[in-house]
Amino acid sequence: MSKLILVTGGAGFIGSHCVIELLIDGFEVLIADNWSNSSKECIPRLEKITGRKLNVVDLDVTDRDALDKLFSENQFYAVLHLAALKAVGESVSKPLEYYWNNVYGTMTVLDAMKKHNVKNFVFSSSATVYGTPNYLPLDEKHPTNGDQITNPYGKTKYVVEHVLKDLYGSDNSWNIIILRYFNPVGAHESGLIGEDPRGPPNNLMPFISQVAVGRLPEVKIFGNDYDTPDGTGVRDYIHIYDLARGHSLSLKKIDENPGLKIYNIGTGIGYSVLEMISAVEKTSGKKLKTRIVERRGGDVPSVYADSSLATRELGWKAVKNLNDMCQDLWNWQSKNPNGFSTPN
Ligand code: WQD
Repeated sequence: MSKLILVTGGAGFIGSHCVIELLIDGFEVLIADNWSNSSKECIPRLEKITGRKLNVVDLDVTDRDALDKLFSENQFYAVLHLAALKAVGESVSKPLEYYWNNVYGTMTVLDAMKKHNVKNFVFSSSATVYGTPNYLPLDEKHPTNGDQITNPYGKTKYVVEHVLKDLYGSDNSWNIIILRYFNPVGAHESGLIGEDPRGPPNNLMPFISQVAVGRLPEVKIFGNDYDTPDGTGVRDYIHIYDLARGHSLSLKKIDENPGLKIYNIGTGIGYSVLEMISAVEKTSGKKLKTRIVERRGGDVPSVYADSSLATRELGWKAVKNLNDMCQDLWNWQSKNPNGFSTPN
C-alpha cells in the first residue's frame, strides 16, 4: 500500500511542486492549507499536471482540535511540514504572528503526531539559520547562530530546529529530516503553477519577473558596494524542481530509519543580483529598468551551499541550471502575468 504523506502548506509555492514529485515517486498525498498565502486555483492546475484527483483539506496548523481529528481519520506515514509565514520584512513588524504560526504551529503538528504515533517528519528550514557565514561554501557543520539572525522569520526556523533536536533527544524513535533551503526559484515546466506572492514580492526573482512582465516599473538593486565580484549580493538560487526532489528523496530516506538529519539544499553556485537580472533579460528578451538603492538591512554579501552531504546520503543533486530557472520562471510569469488569478 502506498504511504500517505500529510503536506502542510501543500498548496504553496514549495508545497505544490513537492506534491507533484511525491506522486511521481508513488506516495499518496493529503494537502492541508489555510490559504493564507496560497490560491485554491492551484489545486485544479495540480490535478491537470498530475492527472490525479487530489485530496485537500482546509487546515490551520495552529488548530489543535482540527489536527487531532485529521490524525484520527488518516493513517499518515509522514508529515512534510511546509506551512509557515515567510516574509522576512513583515516578520519584523509582526513577530507574534511569525512565532505563533511557525513555532507554535509546528509544535501543534508535532504534538498531534506524537499522540497518534506518527514519527516521521520533514521540515522546511532555511540557510538563514547560519547567520553571517564564517566561511563559504556553507556546509552543515557551519555553526548556526540565532543572535546573528536579524529577523523573526529566520529566528522561527532556528527555534524550530532546536525544538526538533530536543524532541529527537527525548525519543530517538523519531525520524526527522531538516532541509535548509537556499534560494528557491523557477516554476513547474508546464507553466501552470509557480510562485504567486501577494503584494509586491520581497524576493529578488519574483520581483525581477514582475518587472519583466510589466507589473512593476523597475528592479531596485539593494547595494552595489559589497565585497563580491560585481559589488551586488551573491546567492545560491535553486530550481523549485530540484528542491521538490529533495523532499521526495528525504521521505524515501526515512525507510532507513535515519534518526535526525540535516541537509543543505542548494546548487553550490552563487550568482549576483546583476547576473540574475541579465539572465532574466536574456530569457524574456526584455531590457529591464534598474536602480541602485541602499543596502537592505540584514543582508550579507555572499551565501552559497555545500550540498555534498545530501548528494552522499540522499542521492540528491541539483540538475537544473540558471537558464532552466529563468526559462521556467518566465514561462509561468508570461503565461500568468497576474499569477493564479490569470484565467487558464
Ligand atoms: C537575494 C539578493 C538582496 C530583492 C530570503 C530569506 C531566506 C529565504 C529566501 C524564504 C540579495 C537582493 C532582493 C530586490 C535586490 N526565505 N535583492 N532587490 O535575502 O537571500 O533570502 O529569501 O522564504 O530566509 O532571508 O533572498 O531574494 O530577498 O534576495 O537587490 O528587490 O537579491 O539584497 O542580495 P535572501 P532575496
